[in-house]
Amino acid sequence: MLMYSSLWLNYEKLMISDDVEKRAADILKNVCFVSCDGENRIFKSIKKEIETASEILLGEKSTISFSDKKEQNALSVCLVREDKLGKEGFRIYSDDNAFTIEANDYNGLLYGTFEFIEMLRLGKLTKEVNIIKIPDNPLRMLNHWDNMTGDIERGYSGNSFFFADNKMLINDRTVMYARAVSSVGINAVVINNVNVKGEASYLISKKHYDDVRKLSELFADYGIRLFLSVNYALPLEYGLESADPLDEKVCEWWKSKCVEIYENVPLLGGFLVKADSEGRPGPFSYGRNQADGANMLARAIAPFDGIIIWRCFVYNCKQDWRDEKTDRAKSGYDYFHSLDGKFEENVILQIKNGPMDFQVREPISPLFGGLENTNQMLEVQIAQEYTGQQRHVCFLIPWFKEILAFNTHMKEASVADIVSGRVMGNKNAGMTAVCNTGDDYNWTGHDLAGANLYGFGKLAFDTSLSATDIAANWARLYLSQAIGESSFAKRNGEKIVNTVKEILMKSWPVYEKYNAPLGIGWMVVPGIHYGPDVDGYEYSPWGTYHKADLHAIGRDRTDNGTGYVSQYREENKKMYENVETCPEELLLFFHRLPYNYVLKNGKTVIQHIYDTHFEGADEAVKLLEEWKSLEGLISKDVYERALERFIHQAEHSKEWRDVINSYFFRKTGIKDLQGREIY
Ligand code: GCU
Repeated sequence: MLMYSSLWLNYEKLMISDDVEKRAADILKNVCFVSCDGENRIFKSIKKEIETASEILLGEKSTISFSDKKEQNALSVCLVREDKLGKEGFRIYSDDNAFTIEANDYNGLLYGTFEFIEMLRLGKLTKEVNIIKIPDNPLRMLNHWDNMTGDIERGYSGNSFFFADNKMLINDRTVMYARAVSSVGINAVVINNVNVKGEASYLISKKHYDDVRKLSELFADYGIRLFLSVNYALPLEYGLESADPLDEKVCEWWKSKCVEIYENVPLLGGFLVKADSEGRPGPFSYGRNQADGANMLARAIAPFDGIIIWRCFVYNCKQDWRDEKTDRAKSGYDYFHSLDGKFEENVILQIKNGPMDFQVREPISPLFGGLENTNQMLEVQIAQEYTGQQRHVCFLIPWFKEILAFNTHMKEASVADIVSGRVMGNKNAGMTAVCNTGDDYNWTGHDLAGANLYGFGKLAFDTSLSATDIAANWARLYLSQAIGESSFAKRNGEKIVNTVKEILMKSWPVYEKYNAPLGIGWMVVPGIHYGPDVDGYEYSPWGTYHKADLHAIGRDRTDNGTGYVSQYREENKKMYENVETCPEELLLFFHRLPYNYVLKNGKTVIQHIYDTHFEGADEAVKLLEEWKSLEGLISKDVYERALERFIHQAEHSKEWRDVINSYFFRKTGIKDLQGREIY
């Protein structure tokens, strides 16, 4: 038995309907590669993928031929020269009895092939099909926070499958990983933790070059560029006295290091750097700014077309909680805004979606719209650190859609417009997700967390996709296995898809309801970030305070308070600073309000807290019931694995409800209008 599932690429058990299967058999019988180089590494993966699909669907190998023109009664996979297909884009169309996949490059052909097989499996491959897809984001990346010891920072699905015992792992699981993530359009992967610790410093040394090269080649077979997180102060570990970015010796050290790295790992994409953050070293130690640090590395790696991805998660994590003026939310903008336009062409600033840290709800970082002349990348987190740690179901794609749609009012551009490179016409841009995988059989702990992995890739490729469609497609692809002789269609496939789609689409709002209220965030157990602890971070140095007393709660971030609102463009500033126009789901992030402040629906803040927490916990029970309605319809192991988590979520959401409600009841003495039980 395999040690891992094949995620949504589970072709072997595909049985959607007899119709679809028949069509698959017809189409895949003859496959013709047009103008393709049989030796190209990505080509080989494409061929293998088609063979795998056809062997399973037809029960036999399809006939493969090479030609310089398309064929009738066949699937033609053609490398073409067509401007309108762009970089990595593809077209899938049908004429007469033939189907064609076209692209300008092998990445495009690979994505077209995966899309073709997916459409076939979803029953969407009609005779009229004619689609062109060009990726919206040039870089579509995953950041793994894996340590070389084998554990994963914020990992909720087992250990690393990239590392164990300070060594790299390269095996059939790595191939499955590359296949799966490239099937949703991922083209760049960072394998090691941004907090570079221990042995990871030596990933770029003779000790590990051979393995790093092997992995970079394996990834390249699937159109993926390998990146590494590096420690900014690495020169110190190699005996230099300084890591000052303006010190000639330091610059020279990095230059010759890059020469050595690229001699050994020519396909490396570049580095990801977390500097001056949460105890990590950086240019601040030498009185230099973030651009000095990033540019020094960028110049060293530029001759090899390498990219430096520099994180903007820079803040003071040793703050005095008594200090009313310092506001962690302001720090990213404060450190980076004045440097706009000062970064090298091959530097990308990687910006977390919110100004704090991946809470269930935050405003959008004001750096989006604040920076006009700097390459930017959006960082989101599908590892569910603050959103239920893959024990609670929390489908994050609806949230990412909101983030992407946010109008920054910089040239009326949305976040999606900026990070795609459309506004500035830059190619070094894109989206990345802190990844949610580990070596568990199902890769993501909660089976339904697989929808976030699938969904992130799909969305990064095509930001116009709807969250509902992503949820439904994932459910159909992942849960369509036959059970014995019983095909998906015979088992009421539509009910399965609709139920899972509904659960996924409800899950983020449900989680938000029983979490910290109205955008304030941070009522979690410190360190592990799981479970409720209202004051857990209140008197800590981390800068994440709700300031609840017996009269009021929230941070005043208007100009009368910390002044954070002024980091936004005028239109957004006005919206947030006025308590009437501030979106209510963010009210306590921007304003300090008395508990009897009346919301638009006529409820007071305190009653809203009580109501949402009761509702959230009740709805978590309903999610469990909905899941139970699938018993016998989906495979037993998926059903039972997730069941155990839904049961836990239903219990744990009550804990959230009761801790939060009791805290505020005790603090305020205000009774719940419905007289429900509060402790
Ligand atoms: C969060 C997370 C850390 C992580 C950090 C980061 O603070 O809790 O584990 O290192 O984000 O993004 O660098």
